[in-house]
Amino acid sequence: SLMPYALPILAFIIAATPFGLIIGRMVKGIDIREHGSGNIGTTNVFRVLGMWPGIICLILDILKGFIPVVLAINLLQFGDRQPIPHLAFLDSMRTTLPESRQFFVQMVHIITALFAILGHNYSPWLGFKGGKGIATSLGVLLALMPFAALILVLLFLIVFLITRYVSLASIIAAGSLPLLTLWGSWHHGRIQDGTWNIPLFMFSLAIGILAIWKHRSNIQRLRNGTENRFSKKTKA
Ligand code: G3P
Repeated sequence: SLMPYALPILAFIIAATPFGLIIGRMVKGIDIREHGSGNIGTTNVFRVLGMWPGIICLILDILKGFIPVVLAINLLQFGDRQPIPHLAFLDSMRTTLPESRQFFVQMVHIITALFAILGHNYSPWLGFKGGKGIATSLGVLLALMPFAALILVLLFLIVFLITRYVSLASIIAAGSLPLLTLWGSWHHGRIQDGTWNIPLFMFSLAIGILAIWKHRSNIQRLRNGTENRFSKKTKA
């Protein structure tokens, strides 16, 4: 069937929907790219438009990563696994499917996840520009590895509450993702016994690097001491 190929494309198209831009137009009739950090992401929607638009943008940007990956996981299953919600921590490869098929199924899940993030970051509707992919990455991770995702949310919140820099919290969470999957595999003895889920690790490394790369202007500002600290804005 064509489904394995349709899923990443669908993910890309869904996630390319620039909710931050749409919300800015609807709520205040502005182009969010001309305000605040110029980013179309949740953080800038909070910054420029306030709490409720920010919360709505956060939910929509998470969902556009979560929904395509949940679809992929449920439409193309490993065989003996239950569909979502599965809470196995980084341990998704126990299956009765032949190994080549199992690899293929997992690649479809991972590529669907990757394409969702790429759709948000490089939206064709915005001339292949877009956001930094943090909320959308959280959405795909909540589907692919929910336990790891929750740990990263906690880490994000700790860094954010201490420093009030959303960007720094994002960067630290992104950098921690590959370390966390590595630790998870070690913890389950899967590196030791050679059943390490390498595709999942490579995926987490790739999206971690991508997220940090997308924050390079924030990194510059953090180093200069000119990065925006998050402050509550009720009326912009
Ligand atoms: O989610 C993106 C955030 O980490 C930084 O956003 O608008 O401050 O560049 P912004």
